[in-house]
Amino acid sequence: MPDNVEQQKQQDDRIVFLREFLKHPNQVASIIPSSRFLERRVMDQANVKTARMVVELGGGTGGTTRAILRELPPEGKLLVIEINARFCARLQAINDPRLIVHRGNAQDLQEAIATHGLPAPDAIISGIPFSTMGHDTGSRVLNAIKSVLPPGGCFVAYQFRKQVYELARPLLGRAARVELALLNIPPMRVFRWEQQPA
Ligand SMILES: C[S@@+](CC[C@H](N)C(=O)[O-])C[C@H]1O[C@@H](n2cnc3c(N)ncnc32)[C@H](O)[C@@H]1O
Repeated sequence: MPDNVEQQKQQDDRIVFLREFLKHPNQVASIIPSSRFLERRVMDQANVKTARMVVELGGGTGGTTRAILRELPPEGKLLVIEINARFCARLQAINDPRLIVHRGNAQDLQEAIATHGLPAPDAIISGIPFSTMGHDTGSRVLNAIKSVLPPGGCFVAYQFRKQVYELARPLLGRAARVELALLNIPPMRVFRWEQQPA
């Protein structure tokens, strides 16, 4: 994509993102999309380069989605579950046969995977805000993640606050890795868990 087209797209994404944040602050939880720096951290933690099937929870305007698609092998699949209709429309405009956009709630992850006839994911990447969604919803999402991840599969969550760590600890154990990504607004923690053999 030429530089000026890319810049215009980024600008449009930022405007849509901010508008949706103003309408749904607890769901969107950030005023601008994730930075390239944060995207890089997340891709590395989730080993997207070697994944065959990735799930993204909360694709937003698609910056992180495109970052995953840039890394994903040609035969890979990416399922994005996004709750917001406006964001889903932008995600559906990404022209890539590996991408499946599912409008729905992350807590229905298991059903979404089954609906699209997809295999168990190697990685689940999540930017949905565990700090504002409430304890019960957060627990349902994490239970769904636990139920679909095969042994060795990883869950990578980038979050401003630490709630996800407390919620996930009883299910997924202590985070194997926590990194701080400072070059983002706001600065984010990147948590990574790996599903242990049963
Ligand atoms: C912080 S934004 C991240 C957007 C994008 N991935 C990025 O990093 O720029 C959180 C996203 O999660 C979505 N979201 C929030 N709760 C959700 C839920 N329960 N299920 C699916 N998507 C959700 C929001 O609509 C929003 O797109």
